[in-house]
Amino acid sequence: MGDLVITNGHSTGVDKAASRIKQRVLNFGVVGIGRMGQLHALNILRLVPQAKLVCACSPAKADLEWAETNLIPHGVAVFPTFEEMVQFPGLDAVVVASISELHYQHTKASLERGIHVLCEKPVTQTVEQLQELVSIVQSSSNEARLMVGFTRRFDENYQEAAEKIRAGAIGSPVVIRSQGCEKLDDGPFMHSYVVNAARGGGFFVDSIIHDIDLTLSFLEAGGLPAVPQSVCGFGTAAHFKELEQGPYRDGDNVVGMVQFWGGQIAFHYNSRTAAAGYDNQTEIFGTHGKISVNLVSKSNRLELSDNSGVHASVLPSWYDRYKPSFVAEVIAFTDAVLEQKPMPISLESCITSLTIAQALQESFRTGKKIDFDKEGKRI
Ligand SMILES: NC(=O)c1ccc[n+]([C@@H]2O[C@H](COP(=O)([O-])OP(=O)(O)OC[C@H]3O[C@@H](n4cnc5c(N)ncnc54)[C@H](O)[C@@H]3O)[C@@H](O)[C@H]2O)c1
Repeated sequence: MGDLVITNGHSTGVDKAASRIKQRVLNFGVVGIGRMGQLHALNILRLVPQAKLVCACSPAKADLEWAETNLIPHGVAVFPTFEEMVQFPGLDAVVVASISELHYQHTKASLERGIHVLCEKPVTQTVEQLQELVSIVQSSSNEARLMVGFTRRFDENYQEAAEKIRAGAIGSPVVIRSQGCEKLDDGPFMHSYVVNAARGGGFFVDSIIHDIDLTLSFLEAGGLPAVPQSVCGFGTAAHFKELEQGPYRDGDNVVGMVQFWGGQIAFHYNSRTAAAGYDNQTEIFGTHGKISVNLVSKSNRLELSDNSGVHASVLPSWYDRYKPSFVAEVIAFTDAVLEQKPMPISLESCITSLTIAQALQESFRTGKKIDFDKEGKRI
């Protein structure tokens, strides 16, 4: 653990205070080494100077085999269970990248041991669970910190958009339109992923929550209250027909509209069936101008013109779009913990985004508009 004397899970309050002053490197574990966990583990190993990957866990044989080649040779201890991993001596922080249904359980157990958590979205499946985690973080007897991995906030384009709004470049935001459309993947992983996502809260909670979070960041940047007044969700299962059945009915193309108490309107659209590639774009319409981010989604600036038209290559996936943002996210989290600075994303905003996402999912499933009072409580 860098030059730290005593470790988090086992130290007294006084020891902790002394250790934080000296601590320059945060010892990380990664919970769940599937798609996201592998990305986080490699980022921490290679690209985050103030973080050290000390352990990881997954029950899946394929993940453990991957770790044998990619983590164990770098001195990372790998465990088949979270319960074994979380007891690793000197563990300071974890990235929770397990399946969504387990985020609450893994985050709560880590926080209760005084371990800082960077949790993939969705952090919990209910607002009540998130409020419980927030109260653990806020309790005076616990110094552990929590951040939800809303990756897009660490993208330099969205950061510049927020800065411009803060500087008044478009006046006051009025309408925000944000969409994230993934290229259709008809493989077995995606078929099981969409069903798991439906069980874990649905497409709004699993994915549109990124767009909702961006909307909240732009309202915050504009100094506007981000309190929902009413929400309405729509959706359809255009390709993944298995989503039409059962209690966890979901869509693979969904639209979530939100009216805020300040008068602002947000339109969020997500799809899992885009034909060309990852089409992720955002527009913020203000009283004196408009900001657009990525309206034509391309992998680079090259265009080929020939006798059949003008051609550009597509961006294959969210992974390609946000690869640097995942690194920036862990750096920002590590920095906030080591320097005792506020987390870049407030937990209050995470409660609001989850509240909106859940209400949108419910509105889509029930066909009813959902209203909130001026304090953001369901009517
Ligand atoms: N921030 C983003 O842009 C983004 C993008 C994709 C996915 N995600 C989120 O990341 C999370 C992981 O998604 P993924 O695509 O990597 O899925 P995945 O299925 O590839 O990975 C999940 C991992 O959790 C592991 N796991 C299952 N039970 C476990 C347990 N008891 N203890 C520890 N690990 C366990 C699985 O073995 C698997 O390795 C999801 O919550 C998803 O919503 C975020």
